[in-house]
Amino acid sequence: MGNTDRAGTRFHLVLPAAGSGQRMASDRPKQYLEIDGRTLLQHTLERLGVMDCIDRIVLVLANDDSWWPAIEPRLTTFLRRKIQVAAGGAERCDSVRNGLLAIRHLAGNEDFVLVHDVVRPCVRTGDVRLLIDAVRDEVAGGLLATPLRDTLKRADDAGRVEQTMDRSRLWCAATPQMFRYHILLQALETATANGRKVTDEAEAVEALGYKVKLVQGHADNIKITYPDDLQLATLILGVAD
Ligand code: C5P
Repeated sequence: MGNTDRAGTRFHLVLPAAGSGQRMASDRPKQYLEIDGRTLLQHTLERLGVMDCIDRIVLVLANDDSWWPAIEPRLTTFLRRKIQVAAGGAERCDSVRNGLLAIRHLAGNEDFVLVHDVVRPCVRTGDVRLLIDAVRDEVAGGLLATPLRDTLKRADDAGRVEQTMDRSRLWCAATPQMFRYHILLQALETATANGRKVTDEAEAVEALGYKVKLVQGHADNIKITYPDDLQLATLILGVAD
C-alpha cells in the first residue's frame, strides 16, 4: 500500500452515496443524475480517484441501489481496483459509520479518512491537496469550508428581520472533511448512542471536545440539492479544474 506520508499515515476516501435526494424530486437518486453524459457519481469518482494520495475508496450505496451495476463497468480498471462498496444506513452519519466499519481491518487508528459528499462533483483536487497539507499534523482533523459571503438575517415568526447577525466568524461547511480514523469512528458511534443526528462529521467530532480546523476552499464546490444546482454545476464543470 504505497501512499503513506512520512509518519506512515494513509488516506482513505469514504463517499456516502446512499441518499435518496428527495429535495431534487427526480426519477432517480440525485447521484445518478447526469452532466455531460456522466452521472454525478462518476464525475466525483473520476476527479478524486486519480489523486495519488488516495489509495482506497469506500463507496457507500443504498441497499436497494439498482443503478451502480450499470455504472461500474464504465469506470477505468485503475479506478475500479480502488473501490470497495459498503452498505448505506438510514441517515448520512449511519452511512459514513458503515463505510468506516467496512475498512476497520485495513485502516490504522492514526490514518486519515476523507469523507466527501458524492453529490459535490465540482470539488477541486487542488483544494483537497490544500486540506491534506493543512490538516495532516492535526490531532483530530479539519474540513474544507468558505467564509460566509452574504449578510445574515434572523427572521421573526412573521418573516420579518429580527436581527442582522455578525458574520465575521461564520463559515459554510463543505466536504471533504478529514479526520483520524479512530476519532471519527468514536465520534459517530457516540453520536448514535446519544441519539444525535449529526449533519456532518465535524459536528460529531466537535461534540467529543476536539478543535476542528477550518481550511478555506473554493465556493464552487457546491452540493447538488435542488434542480437549479445541476445547471450551475454544469457551468462550473465546464470551466473549473
Ligand atoms: O441529502 P444530502 O444532500 O444532505 O446528502 C449528502 C450526502 O450524503 C449525499 O452524497 C448522499 O448520497 C449521502 N447520504 C448517504 N446516506 C443517507 C443519506 C445521505 O450516504 N442515508
